[in-house]
Amino acid sequence: MRKRYLLTVAVGLGALAAPMVAQGPPGGRGGGRAGGFPQYTRQLAPPDVIAKGKTLYDDKCSECHAVDLRGTLDKHGPNLLRSTETLSDKQGELVGASLAKHTPPLTLPQAETFAVSEYIHSVQAKMGGQGSPPGRNPVGLSYDVLIGNATDGAAKFTKLCSSCHSVTGDLKGIGAKYADDPKALQGAWVFGRTSGGGFGRGGGLAGQPATVTLANGTKFEGKLVRKDDFLIILTLADGTRKSFTRTYTNDPIGTPKVEVKDPQEAHKKMLLVLDDPKNQNMYDITAYLATIK
Ligand code: HEC
Ligand code: HEC
Repeated sequence: MRKRYLLTVAVGLGALAAPMVAQGPPGGRGGGRAGGFPQYTRQLAPPDVIAKGKTLYDDKCSECHAVDLRGTLDKHGPNLLRSTETLSDKQGELVGASLAKHTPPLTLPQAETFAVSEYIHSVQAKMGGQGSPPGRNPVGLSYDVLIGNATDGAAKFTKLCSSCHSVTGDLKGIGAKYADDPKALQGAWVFGRTSGGGFGRGGGLAGQPATVTLANGTKFEGKLVRKDDFLIILTLADGTRKSFTRTYTNDPIGTPKVEVKDPQEAHKKMLLVLDDPKNQNMYDITAYLATIK
C-alpha cells in the first residue's frame, strides 16, 4: 500500500545546486526589510548536506512538523518555518537542544542534527516575508515520486549508472524490495544506500579505507575505526589498531591529515549531474527502478 503523502527526497535539488549564499525574496536584498534576517543572509551548507538533511527530515520529523515544515494539528508539532529555535539556530545547536526536549527526547548524531537544521534553513531561505500569501509552498511539494517515465529512466540508467551497477546483478529485484515505498526506493538510489535506518552513524565512514599522513610525511593506511576532531583510530593491514591525536596548533585543518574514502562520493557527484529544474531525471530513474521486480 502506498503511503498517503510521498514527498520526493530530492524536491528542490534545483534550488540546492544554486549558489550557496542564500538570497531573500525579490526586494529582500540590499537593505530591504528581509535583508537583515538570518534566514536570508546565512551561508548554506553544501547541497549534499542539505539533501541528506531533507531525507532525515522526511524520515524523522515530517510526521509531526509536516512535510512542508508548517506543523501539524494532530501531532501538535509547531511550525518550524517561523520558530525562534530554527530561525536563530546557527549550526544545529538550537535545533539539537529542542530535540533533547522532545518527549521522548530525540537524539541524532551531531552531523545529522546539523544536516536537518541546514535543510530547515534552506527552506527558510526560500520562504516569503511575513506578508507572503497563505498557502505558499516554499518547498515546492510533490506528494508522489512515481511520476516519471520508466522507458526514459531505463535509458538514463544505462548512461549514468551501468558503469557501476546492473539491474540483473547488484540491483536485482530493487523495485520489488521497495514495492510498498517508492519514496524509500528513491532515497536508496539517490544516496546509494538501501539499508535504511539513517545516515552516517558515527560519521558513516567507519570501515572505509583511510590514510593518515603525519606532519613529517609518514603515511599510515588502514580502515577507519573512528574519527572525530581530536582522535583518529585506524585498523592497519596487519590487524593492529593505531590511534592518532589530532592537534590544531599550527594548522587549522588539524594534524595529522586524514583522508577517508567515501563510498558515497560517486553518488554525491551524480546528484549534481542529474539535477534538472523539475527533477525529471530523478523521477524517471526511480520509475524505471520500480519496474525491476
Ligand atoms: C512525535 C512528534 C514529533 C517528532 C517526530 C518531532 N517533533 Fe519536534 N516538536 C514536537 C512537539 C510536540 C514540539 C513542541 C513541544 C515540545 O517542545 O516538546 C516540538 C518542538 C520542536 C522544536 C521547537 C520549536 C519551537 O518553536 O519551540 C524544534 C526546533 C523541533 N521540534 C524540531 C524537530 C526536528 C528537527 C525533528 C526531527 C529530527 C522533530 N522535531 C521531530 C513534536 C515532534
Ligand atoms: C561511479 C560508480 C557509481 C555510479 C556511476 C553509480 N553508483 Fe550507485 N553506488 C555506488 C557505490 C560505491 C555504492 C555503495 C555506496 C555505499 O556503500 O554507501 C552505490 C550504491 C547504490 C545503491 C544502493 C545499493 C545497495 O544495495 O545498498 C543504489 C540503489 C544505487 N547505487 C543506484 C544507482 C543509480 C540508480 C545510479 C545512476 C543514476 C548509480 N547508482 C550510479 C557507485 C556508483
